[in-house]
Amino acid sequence: MVRSTPKHASRTFIFVISCFGLLAAGLVADLLWASSKSSSGYHSIASNWAFDDSRSTVIVPHQQPQKAKEGSAVKDKKKADVPERVLSATFADLPAPELEWEKMAPAPVPRLDGAAIQIKNLLYVFAGYGTIDFVHSHVDVYNFTDNTWGGRFDMPKEMAHSHLGMVTDRRYIYVVTGQYGPQCRGPTARTFVLDTKTKQWSDMPPLPVPRYAPATQLWRGRLHVMGGSGENRHTPALEHWSLAVKNGKALEKEWRSEIPIPRGGPHRACIVVDDRLLVIGGQEGDFMAKPGSPIFKCSRRNEVVFSDVYMLDNEMKWKNLPPMPKPDSHIEFAWVMVNHSIIIVGGTTEKHPITKKMVLVGEVFQFNLDSLKWSVIGKLPYRVKTTLAGFWNGWLYFTSGQRDKGPDDPAPRKVLGEMWRTKLSL
Ligand SMILES: *[C@@H]1O[C@H](CO)[C@@H](O)[C@H](O)[C@H]1NC(C)=O
Ligand SMILES: *[C@@H]1O[C@H](CO)[C@@H](O)[C@H](O)[C@H]1NC(C)=O
Repeated sequence: MVRSTPKHASRTFIFVISCFGLLAAGLVADLLWASSKSSSGYHSIASNWAFDDSRSTVIVPHQQPQKAKEGSAVKDKKKADVPERVLSATFADLPAPELEWEKMAPAPVPRLDGAAIQIKNLLYVFAGYGTIDFVHSHVDVYNFTDNTWGGRFDMPKEMAHSHLGMVTDRRYIYVVTGQYGPQCRGPTARTFVLDTKTKQWSDMPPLPVPRYAPATQLWRGRLHVMGGSGENRHTPALEHWSLAVKNGKALEKEWRSEIPIPRGGPHRACIVVDDRLLVIGGQEGDFMAKPGSPIFKCSRRNEVVFSDVYMLDNEMKWKNLPPMPKPDSHIEFAWVMVNHSIIIVGGTTEKHPITKKMVLVGEVFQFNLDSLKWSVIGKLPYRVKTTLAGFWNGWLYFTSGQRDKGPDDPAPRKVLGEMWRTKLSL
């Protein structure tokens, strides 16, 4: 679990490549996935939640990463003497081909940090903040066949409203823990399952402790939940549990402890493919409630965003895969599987080093599981985080989330219900 040294990493890489080679036969089966989003994800986001930076208190309790610290005396002096070179707000944008985006019918409500699961031609969109002081407690459903929204139904009252862990076996949707209530309240351990055929909800054994935005997947008959933040929303959690499940029922009374994840923290994509479990991107730290605030008012804390990709295979040891083209978080439900590639839409990257503002991501990434190579395959209509993505009939869709202030300002602003699609050609 220690992060690999470069040597170890390259060995791992070769090992992984050979594993994927051996699994070529298995890939055929994966093609069957091509037209449906696999399971789903997780997550949600929280980051910049204050719609406007000016409304949130910025508290950076930790030191900046060493680099900044070491040179700080020198830097401070420089700052005083030399007019500072201006670093563009958009410095983190990567070159990306234009894509033609089509605006579809907007979701009935705007939502941030919601969750989504695609089953065949339907995208179930859950929960989320409407505003920082109001959270949704219902599900909206988008039909990719006729491109309409409909079929709204309620969630259980005790279910969390954002930052959920969520995954499907293509009939049942497992909903694990998450944040209960608006602003920066803490998470609940309560866990539920939805039968999408009957729209009936049932209880599942609660997680051993509540988690905020944990990585969640079904793997080898078990519901796996790992990472996320602890109850204060900020402290990265390393624990990993699993529970045997089948047809929407827990087969065990208690969660089992599994190998902890190398780095904790919320807002990661978690995907099972070729019988391997991948955890992609995410961050350490998040907004947390201002001490003593009766409304649990959100206040910003230091965050470190990851580009890491971790993989668990049948050895049950974590290995590193090639990292993303840049650090990316708030992508729990912002991915789809298409033709043996993982496609990731938007997110957040490291904050601006000078202004310290949150920086949103405006690219679409592809991770090709045959070559284990990342690429940037297109630009979004705007930079956006915590989008909810789907794929149907050659079209990549995304809805919801929080977009940037404009082409020249990647800081977060408006919470959206917009739905967009583009024809994908890998
Ligand atoms: C989705 O749309 C298609 C085409 O209008 C329709 O036949 C189907 O019943 C819809 N599915 C649901 C669940 O509404
Ligand atoms: C996926 O592969 C199929 C078969 O090669 C191809 O027809 C299709 O266009 C591919 N899909 C995308 C989105 O590239």
